[in-house]
Amino acid sequence: MAYPSGRHFLQIPGPTNVPDRVLRAIDRPTIDHRGPEFAKLAREVLTGIRKVFRTVHPVVIYPASGTGAWEAALVNTLSPGDRVLMFETGQFASLWKGIADRLELRVDLVPGDWRHGVDPAAVEEKLAADKEHSIRAVCAVHNETSPGGTSRIAEVRAAIDRARHPALFLVDTISSLASIDYRHEEWKVDVTVGGSQKGLMLPPGLSFNAISPKALAAAKSAKLRRSYWEWEPMLQANESGFFPYTPATNLLYGLRESLHMLEDEGLDKVFARHRRHGEATRRAVRAWGLELNPLDEREHSDSLTGIRMPDGHDADKLRAIILERFDMSLGTGLGKL
Ligand SMILES: Cc1ncc(COP(=O)(O)O)c(C=O)c1O
Repeated sequence: MAYPSGRHFLQIPGPTNVPDRVLRAIDRPTIDHRGPEFAKLAREVLTGIRKVFRTVHPVVIYPASGTGAWEAALVNTLSPGDRVLMFETGQFASLWKGIADRLELRVDLVPGDWRHGVDPAAVEEKLAADKEHSIRAVCAVHNETSPGGTSRIAEVRAAIDRARHPALFLVDTISSLASIDYRHEEWKVDVTVGGSQKGLMLPPGLSFNAISPKALAAAKSAKLRRSYWEWEPMLQANESGFFPYTPATNLLYGLRESLHMLEDEGLDKVFARHRRHGEATRRAVRAWGLELNPLDEREHSDSLTGIRMPDGHDADKLRAIILERFDMSLGTGLGKL
């Protein structure tokens, strides 16, 4: 057993390192979540988080991991038997599909090799073929956290528009939000799913739904059963700075601090910093003679780098050596990878 000195290097795709500023902000007494001090905190974070999603419309904050926000996006907008279009871009798209299957939605899955993002041409083709508009939603994962590939969401939006299709557009940004350029409103996304434990620099435990007016209207007639995830009571309580159930008070202190940090640096500079570090990492990987997982230059992720192990080498053994000798945790390949 080794006892390394100093700080552990947490270099998995997420949870990521939580900056000391955020840790110190969380380390405060928990307050009455029905009192005036809490209402001030909640209003501040509920407004501040909209800027990160680049929307002026409401963002719901759940005390839940990202999986909860995935489920919330589906159950608030859809009805049993609705058709949804999904793309097999990697492990997380596959898990989201699993939820849709269990909710008895009818999923049209476009198969993939986990080395490419969502193909905008395939989106257009599928939607154009759906003359009676039976597809109710298009679901895409912006940044696939195991393969290290980023889908071109603006181009997917343009494809939906070209097909003149009214489907809702649901996007998972759990490993891209606050790291890679993303625009909920400009790209006319209806529900954006986010999580606390990556670009927002928080511990795991919060997740988000950014909601468009079109999604809110869809929620009025959506018939999937929901209780905990129901937007309506949440939005109502949020208006006066409260939650319909006990919120994750101390994580909200952390969120307030991380929003200040993002605001201080400026989102565009944050994205540029991740791009620079991502590019530096990719150049190092190529110089070592190793292969990057995404095959399309336009789809390399700036928040994590997917590297393929050469045949005959075991990635888990390498990760074990790096952990033991250098006190550094690297992400493992998931599912097919
Ligand atoms: C892209 C993406 N979507 C969804 C999830 C699921 O989130 P959680 O594990 O917080 O439930 C993750 C987790 O890593 C993710 O990276």
